[in-house]
Amino acid sequence: MSCIYDLDTPHLLVDLDRLEKNISLMAETAQASDVRLRPHTKTHKSPYVASLQRAAGTAGITVAKLGEAELMVAEGFQDVFIANQLVGGIKLNRFLELSRNASVACAADSVEGVLPMAAMASSMCQKANVWIEIDTGLGRAGCRSLEEAIIVARAIESSSWLTCSGIFTHEGHIYGSAPDRVKADAAEAAARMRDIKAELLKNGLPCPMISMGSTPSAAAVAAQDGVDEIRPGVYVYGDRLQVRRGFDRDRCALTVLASVVSIRPDGVAILDAGSKSLASDCPFEDKTYGEVLDQPWLVLKGVSEEHGHLKISEGHGLKVGDKLRIIPNHACTCVNMHDFFAVCRGEQTEAVLPVAARGKIQ
Ligand SMILES: Cc1ncc(COP(=O)(O)O)c(C=O)c1O
Repeated sequence: MSCIYDLDTPHLLVDLDRLEKNISLMAETAQASDVRLRPHTKTHKSPYVASLQRAAGTAGITVAKLGEAELMVAEGFQDVFIANQLVGGIKLNRFLELSRNASVACAADSVEGVLPMAAMASSMCQKANVWIEIDTGLGRAGCRSLEEAIIVARAIESSSWLTCSGIFTHEGHIYGSAPDRVKADAAEAAARMRDIKAELLKNGLPCPMISMGSTPSAAAVAAQDGVDEIRPGVYVYGDRLQVRRGFDRDRCALTVLASVVSIRPDGVAILDAGSKSLASDCPFEDKTYGEVLDQPWLVLKGVSEEHGHLKISEGHGLKVGDKLRIIPNHACTCVNMHDFFAVCRGEQTEAVLPVAARGKIQ
């Protein structure tokens, strides 16, 4: 075991004590409301972290991409939901091949998406599982009306090769809700899902489950009637955006270890971690890109590709060669910048592991 400060920089670090706490708190949240937990692994892209989540009690995992699903199945995960539409013969063929080896499912929100899947499933004599995506307010993909959902459900039902797993939504619009509105907005999204499920059943169409998920709304949706499953992702690490949404800063498990490479005369320390190490997401009005662990007043006022600009005051004591741990604004995009992460307890590195699903974007 070596000290984290002996690692070369920039280096992704994950604090194991905090990670384990985040994993067990979310598992408790799901258990308390008697819902299944299917964490979104796009945040960590790591079979190792997914195995810690599984050990705490999960009903399978969620991934964003088919390539991530292939990797996770190869790593022994048998129940994987690809929360995305799969379009085109190449992907459908891979998806159906994967379906031969594991319980996998993908998303659909259109007849144009379902029919080619049904045709290829039939020609490959391979059954496939499909969740119908519902847009509950995010305005991304998903059926926007009950009528659309019924049409998609009918297309699935008309193929003996496809099975509808249920309806799902990512209620990510709740990131924009005022803190005192989260519960009400989560309840509204869940009510929408219940109504759609009820109408599908009334129309003789199967809808076994309702799956919802995002970190800020996880507890609120889990408590809603009719919700069977939650799919939060970022909770595993936390980040500055989650802190703004009420996540305990002391639970932020992900940092980027960076070195001071230059000190400007105007009191700015230049770090060797910029947008290619921390990502450039900046949802904050004060245009800050990260903060120093345990010193949240020390913020990155700017990033260029390979440099971070840390505003410091006179007498700060920082010098070239010092190493600092930076909490990123957005854990998912930050992780996506790195090939490896070190897991540590306190200042001791326990292992250096690959961000194995990185780059599996197809
Ligand atoms: C389909 C889907 N499910 C779950 C999540 C997890 O939400 P969060 O990032 O808030 O943890 C996301 C995030 O983008 C998502 O797109």
